[in-house]
Amino acid sequence: MCGIAGYVGSRVVRDILIAQLKKMEYRGYDSAGLAVVGGGGIHAVKVVGHVSALEQESINQWLPGNCGIGHTRWATNGRPSTKNAHPHTTSKVAVVHNGIIENSDELKVFLESNGYSFEGETDTEAVAKLLDFYYDGDPMIALNKVAKRLKGSFALGILFFDATDAIYALKKGGPLIIGLCAGENFLSSDINAVLEYTTRYYVLEDDEIAIIKKDHVEVFDAQGVQLSKTENVADWKADLIDKQGFSHFMRKEIFEQPQVVTNIILENIRDGIPDFEAAGVSDEYLKRFKRICIVGCGTARYAGLVGKNWIEHFARLPVDVVMASEFRYQNPVLFADTLVVLISQSGETADTLAAARLVKDRGISSVGIVNVKGSNICREVEHVIFTQAGVEVAVASTKAYIAQLSVLFLLSLKLGFVNGQLAQDRIHSLCNQFIDLPEILRQVLREKEAEIQKLAQACVEYESIFFLGRGLDYLLALEGALKLKEVSYVNAQAYAAGELKHGPISLITDRLLVIALVTQEAVKEKIINNLREVTARCGKVRLLFKAGMQIPADLIEQSLQLPALEDFLMPFLVAETLQLLAYYSACAVNANVDKPRNLAKSVTVE
Ligand code: F6R
Repeated sequence: MCGIAGYVGSRVVRDILIAQLKKMEYRGYDSAGLAVVGGGGIHAVKVVGHVSALEQESINQWLPGNCGIGHTRWATNGRPSTKNAHPHTTSKVAVVHNGIIENSDELKVFLESNGYSFEGETDTEAVAKLLDFYYDGDPMIALNKVAKRLKGSFALGILFFDATDAIYALKKGGPLIIGLCAGENFLSSDINAVLEYTTRYYVLEDDEIAIIKKDHVEVFDAQGVQLSKTENVADWKADLIDKQGFSHFMRKEIFEQPQVVTNIILENIRDGIPDFEAAGVSDEYLKRFKRICIVGCGTARYAGLVGKNWIEHFARLPVDVVMASEFRYQNPVLFADTLVVLISQSGETADTLAAARLVKDRGISSVGIVNVKGSNICREVEHVIFTQAGVEVAVASTKAYIAQLSVLFLLSLKLGFVNGQLAQDRIHSLCNQFIDLPEILRQVLREKEAEIQKLAQACVEYESIFFLGRGLDYLLALEGALKLKEVSYVNAQAYAAGELKHGPISLITDRLLVIALVTQEAVKEKIINNLREVTARCGKVRLLFKAGMQIPADLIEQSLQLPALEDFLMPFLVAETLQLLAYYSACAVNANVDKPRNLAKSVTVE
């Protein structure tokens, strides 16, 4: 989603801004812009499309000065256009903004009554004009007045036409960091975008205002009191964003999954038992909890649903799984013995972040399962277990989902162990099987890819697809349907197979394909019966089943067989298969696989 860049120093400002924006491209955006202050005013360049277009457009522009801001915009208020792209400028100010100003209509009326007019449709234009209105030569006075009038969430980077040596930043909501370096400083909504230049940074908190100059940075609270900020040091390296010979990031990331699981094994298994001590999650800590609440959005929540199944089975603890967007507004019932687990690849999803803050404010214990180091959610939770997946560029989450499942699987075993529900030999056996998983994931990639590609060709011929499953297979069906629809735009729904005859069966025709997941022994006969209900109504069925299962001959045709693991581990193989199915379906319809329409990688607004 939207990205903010800022630079003050002696290098070519435009080049540094472009380089920073390129680092944030994978998050998804539809327009880009930058502004530099110097030579008697503010000079801005904006384009619809890619940062490379901004690079081209700005190459011959006169952009004097040592100080600038840049932005990639993912349209929320107002369609993608140069008028709506950031920075929004007046003769006095330039503004880049992440977030949403909820009272922008009211502000526009106020500004119109004071002689301002509006060119575009964005909420940010109101911020720029409000700053212009209040600016009389003292940036801090104007910023304080504006901060008091804005409602919503906002991370702002600002230039004033006559303050040619400073970037100003103001934050309430979205992430904003200040990268610190000798003789130059940076502003960014993502620490990873400046790691090439520095590992030292401040985190701007809500209601703080920063003045960033090349030799020093000052931060003030809402009362204007200067703060002494703690310097953070990033102890990780920025990942290389490169397809490494793969045609798409999505396929590359699916093929990285065996290594991701290995990373998690190396980090979180000691002496044959899951161990989260390195993350501060000790046995004593885990023993305190009698219930678990898992919170996340989209794929992360679907991982949480699988986690619930495992935790309830292995640890016999009750688990709720709640959408972060609902959790934050439903006044959740949380007890002192509840552990809230927040799952997020990006660590920046606005709803999950708000949920983490709510949990913290209530004094309830929380653990984040997060991929991106240095992200906001990491700062709001008690402990973080990192998913070790490396940067995920494709918008559709693949390796991060497998990583989330891996952490949840090990966590469920650990909870079972500390609660006396899992004997040592059983936990050793499950861990050993998990240690073998990377090789089996590799085997599926090696041996099944061609078959999956063929099935994908068939999928895109149908108007709609139903994914059916029972138990763990149903939870995988949810993720499979999400993945397929988001990247291939094929209408796909997931149902618990037993629910079919309570309504959805009315949609079964020969224009609809059913993909049935059959990997759970305990409910195999039940789902086979459900599939009979489909074939009896001319519905077409393809099976994904576990090797060794007895499947009726008529259903086995054109079906896909997966290596046999214990039922609890089958979700990993099903997930990988359904990811490839989505990938090849998207390729079959020539969709923009890595950047599906309307989607962003990191959803930093509600
Ligand atoms: C789907 C997908 C999304 C994300 C969701 C949460 O492929 O990627 O559904 O899972 O937006 O994002 P994070 O995990 O970054 O909080």
